[in-house]
Amino acid sequence: MTIETVQRVAVLGAGSMGHGIAEVAAMGGYDVTIRDIEQEFVDDGYDQIEWSLEKLEEKGRLDESAEDILARVDTTTDLEAAVSDADLVIEAVPEVMDIKEDTFSSVDEHAPDHAILASNTSSLSISDIASATDRPEQVVGLHFFNPPVKMDLVEVTYGEATSDETAETAYAWAESIDKTPIYVRKDVHGFVVNTVLVPFMEEAAWMRSEDETTIQEADATMVYERGFPMGPFELNDFGGIDIGYHFRAESDQPVPPVVEEKVDNENLGKKSGKGFYDYDDGDGVDYL
Ligand code: 3HC
Repeated sequence: MTIETVQRVAVLGAGSMGHGIAEVAAMGGYDVTIRDIEQEFVDDGYDQIEWSLEKLEEKGRLDESAEDILARVDTTTDLEAAVSDADLVIEAVPEVMDIKEDTFSSVDEHAPDHAILASNTSSLSISDIASATDRPEQVVGLHFFNPPVKMDLVEVTYGEATSDETAETAYAWAESIDKTPIYVRKDVHGFVVNTVLVPFMEEAAWMRSEDETTIQEADATMVYERGFPMGPFELNDFGGIDIGYHFRAESDQPVPPVVEEKVDNENLGKKSGKGFYDYDDGDGVDYL
């Protein structure tokens, strides 16, 4: 299958990555269906796309009206309806292998034979996910970064069975929506970005666990000294503290105690109102 045959995209999962991916796909001219398991999740994702497109429109950053882009976005809670006429399916469900495998197995049953099945997983094995299907050569990683509408990079990851044709089509598709894809040719845990980025956040968390720095001081060093847009704790809150936690826990590696404590208390960062900073206060105050 080639890029010319991709017209309809299904995005499974309407959370922060799913709705963002659906948004950039619609901005790129594709018809998109977003599916989640509850109507409430789907509605929430749709509202966030609407908010984001209106913001971009106000700033003159869209080539067409927000309304025209939104008109290409459909929503459903029915997986079969979402994927039955999709040329490209992008999964962005929770980072739990059982859920990924169940999802891919159902998608494989209902999606057209020619469809490419992509996963937005941050670190799980594309080869393992692909083995839940009868078309592992058509399964590929398409890893976007948060927030997809602002972040250019997309990792296009090969599983063991991914064909060049599938990876090249996924790469061309990412380019067609104005992203900058890179190939990750080995299905390594964390691909390239998270292999580098998770230790960046974790080193700071180990230092905080040992009382060697404060959250604000560690963040300030990277923002003011290195010019990073966010320091390690702010970035962890932004992406979700559970993401880095699962990255380590899955491979039975130690997790910094401050991270463990946040996950145990369900203070997962911005999405839950509290993480290393307190977002309920409105201005992100360090509360550790
Ligand atoms: N859509 C539209 N507008 C948005 C928006 C969105 N999704 N998000 C923010 N905005 C708006 C804001 O509301 C604000 O509008 P205003 O000026 O009217 O108030 C405007 O954009 C500017 O926002 P900010 O001042 O917050 O921020 P910046 O534009 O300077 O940058 C950022 C925001 C791009 C998120 C920047 O802080 C950044 O690059 N941070 C690092 C992000 C990063 O590294 N992401 C990758 C994480 S790792 C990952 O995703 C991997 C995964 O596997 C875990």
